[in-house]
Amino acid sequence: MNGKNILLIVTGSIAAYKSVDMARRLLDEGFSVRVVMTEAACRFVAPLTFEAVTGKPVSTNLFSEPFSHISLSKEADLFLIAPATANTINKLSCGIADDLPGNLYLTYEGKILIAPAMNCRMYRHPSVQKSIRELKKLDIDFVGPVPGSLACGDEGEGRMAEVSAIVEAAVSALTPKDLSKHNILVTAGPTVEPIDPVRYISNRSSGRMGFAIAKAAARRGAQVTLVSGPVSLTPPDNISYVPVQTALEMEAAVLKRAPKATVIIMAAAVADFAPAVMNRNKIGKGDISSITLKKTPDILKKAGSIKGKRLLIGFAAETGKDIESAREKLKRKNLDLIVLNDVTQEGAGFDVDTNIVTIIDRSGKSTDYPLMNKIELADVILDRLPALKK
Ligand code: PMT
Repeated sequence: MNGKNILLIVTGSIAAYKSVDMARRLLDEGFSVRVVMTEAACRFVAPLTFEAVTGKPVSTNLFSEPFSHISLSKEADLFLIAPATANTINKLSCGIADDLPGNLYLTYEGKILIAPAMNCRMYRHPSVQKSIRELKKLDIDFVGPVPGSLACGDEGEGRMAEVSAIVEAAVSALTPKDLSKHNILVTAGPTVEPIDPVRYISNRSSGRMGFAIAKAAARRGAQVTLVSGPVSLTPPDNISYVPVQTALEMEAAVLKRAPKATVIIMAAAVADFAPAVMNRNKIGKGDISSITLKKTPDILKKAGSIKGKRLLIGFAAETGKDIESAREKLKRKNLDLIVLNDVTQEGAGFDVDTNIVTIIDRSGKSTDYPLMNKIELADVILDRLPALKK
C-alpha cells in the first residue's frame, strides 16, 4: 500500500479511542494517514494523540484552513469513516455538509469505507437502516458493526468492527481484483496425529504461510477456502474456513472441495506418519517401548491425480536448497509450480513471518527470491497464475 493516502474521519463515539491503534496499523501497512475529527470526536480523544501517531496535522474545523474541504479529499485514495456514528451516517445519506467531514464527503470522488459504531437500538432504527441502504446504493462499503457488549452496558449489534477487520477492508478496498474469476483452495498449518488422548505427532508449522496466501488471494477478489490444521491464527472474515486436525481429515476436506477450485495451493505441513493405532486411554510411562507408525495419505499427489484443468501448486520443505528433489516432487505430484523453502535458513520456513524461496515451474525453470514477508511472497506466487494457464 506504499504511497496510498487514507483520509481517516473520526466521529464522536467511544470507539474513537480504537481509531488511534487503527491509524498506527494503517501506517504499518504502508499507508499515509491524514486524520479529520468532528467536534464530538475531540471530546473522546485529543487531536494531539492522532498527530503524534500519524506525524501529520489533524483537521477539526471547516474554517481553520481555506479550501481544506477540497484539498484533503483530492489527495485521498480512500475515505475511511471509523467510527461512524448514527448522526454522521444519517447526515451523509442526505448530503448535509455542516462540518468538515460532511464537506469532504461531498467533494470526494473515490472509494469510501464506513465502520459504524453506535448503540444497538440506534443501529436498528429505521432511519439509520434507511441511510445505510441509501449509502450502499452509492457503492459505499461498510465493515461491521458487530454484535457484542456495548459501552453503555447493552448487548447487541452496534460495536465497531475489530481494528484488524477494518484495516483488512481498507487494504482490500484498494487492491485490484485481478483474481475475481478464481476459486482458490489453500491448505495451511500442521496436522496432528494422535497417539493417545493427550499426546500427538505433529510439526512446527504455524500456518502463517498458508494464511498469508488465503488473505492475499481474498484481497485480490478470489473466492477462498482455507483448510487448516490447528493454529493460533484468526482466519480472515471474507474466506470460508475449514479447520481440521489429522491428515485424513485434511484429505477429506481438500478432496471434497477440489472439484470447485480453479487453483489449489498446498502450504500445509501434513504429517507424513501417524501412529498405526490411537490408544483410547492415556498410555502409562511404563507401558510403551515403541510406537508403530503408518504412512498418511499424500493429499497433494491425490489432488494431482484428479487435476484436470485446475492449477496445482505445492510447497517443498527441505533442509538444504535441494532443487532436484523439488523438481522431482513437482513431476511426481503433477504440479504446475513448486515453492521450495530451505527451512534451515534464518528467516525461512516454519514459524516466522518471512520466507526465502525458489519457485520451480513445469519446464524445470527455477527462480530464486530473496527474504520477504510471507504476505509479499503470497502475492509473488499469485502473480505467477496467469502465466500458468495453458
Ligand atoms: O506454517 P508456517 O510456520 O508459515 O511454515 C510454512 C511451511 C514451512 C510449512 C511452508 O512454507 C511449507 O514448506 N509447507 C510444506 C511443508 C511440507 O510438508 O513439505 P513436504 O516437502 O513434506 O511436502 C511437499 C508437498 O506435499 C507440500 O505441498 C505438502 O502440503 C504436501 N503433502 C505432504 C505430505 C502429505 N502426506 N500430503 C501432502 O499433501
